[in-house]
Amino acid sequence: MDKQEFILAQDREIEEVTGKILRVMRRAVKLYGFWGSVSRYILMRDELRKFVKCGKTGSERNFRKSLLKRFSRIHNKITCGHSPFQFVLMAEYILGLDVPGPIVECGCYKGGSTAKLSLLAEHTQRKLYVFDSFEGLPEPKDEKEAYVKQDGFSGQKYRFQAGQYKGTLDEVKNNVAQFGNLEVCEFIPGFFSESLTAFSVEPAFVFIDVDLVSSARDCLRALWPLLKPGGYFFTHEAMYPSYIEGILDREWWRENLDQCPPVIFGAGSGLSPIADTIAYMRK
Ligand SMILES: C[S@@+](CC[C@H](N)C(=O)[O-])C[C@H]1O[C@@H](n2cnc3c(N)ncnc32)[C@H](O)[C@@H]1O
Repeated sequence: MDKQEFILAQDREIEEVTGKILRVMRRAVKLYGFWGSVSRYILMRDELRKFVKCGKTGSERNFRKSLLKRFSRIHNKITCGHSPFQFVLMAEYILGLDVPGPIVECGCYKGGSTAKLSLLAEHTQRKLYVFDSFEGLPEPKDEKEAYVKQDGFSGQKYRFQAGQYKGTLDEVKNNVAQFGNLEVCEFIPGFFSESLTAFSVEPAFVFIDVDLVSSARDCLRALWPLLKPGGYFFTHEAMYPSYIEGILDREWWRENLDQCPPVIFGAGSGLSPIADTIAYMRK
């Protein structure tokens, strides 16, 4: 690449990032209003500083700083189904987790979340297992499940459909290779109702982002019994009441897992105003 081409490529990158920032700002103002967006920005800035400061040694703080830069690059380059702070928040739990064992991700879309988790897996010397159909969502079981998602601010309903959030295995692998660490990953393609039944590895950390109650139940049925004591089971969609009701249904837990549902932290609200779709259960 000669100098002229290099400058043009840089200009294109700046335009791309600026365009994305403007789109994000417009969306934030629409959802939270002007002052709401400003206060979220300030909260985010403070939380990111806190995240770096929480590193116990100089090298840990440097790692945290570089992690934030790489997370931000991933977010700018890959279409993600999560908001930026969610993985910073989960990073704190993974970095502080003293239970040995791999990380499991269910629902990776284009691999943005996978790339982030792979960097955390690499740093904590864990393996990352990635489960997805790589064909997008299955057909929702019924209309209730199809309409789980509702924007908390605008109140707009949103219908899930088969094939939505599709990222092919090649797409995901390319993205992880470029922005994360492919070497720590193992991909297990297929719908969870089949792909998870043969899994017998005991994870220390699980993250599911699967939208549908039936998909989440497939993950819980297979992974909750395998999760190590002290391990975390994080889920997306924490702010949607019918999702939370669906995964915490007492009868379902009794029939399928022979126990009462555990406490879920962040249900209905998320774990932070800037990570409002994340909740967790601890075994
Ligand atoms: C919202 S996307 C995940 C977003 C991703 N975690 C991110 O942050 O970019 C939901 C993913 O779950 C997968 N999925 C949902 N239900 C599934 C099922 N029953 N079996 C396999 N994959 C499923 C879809 O293929 C899709 O990739």
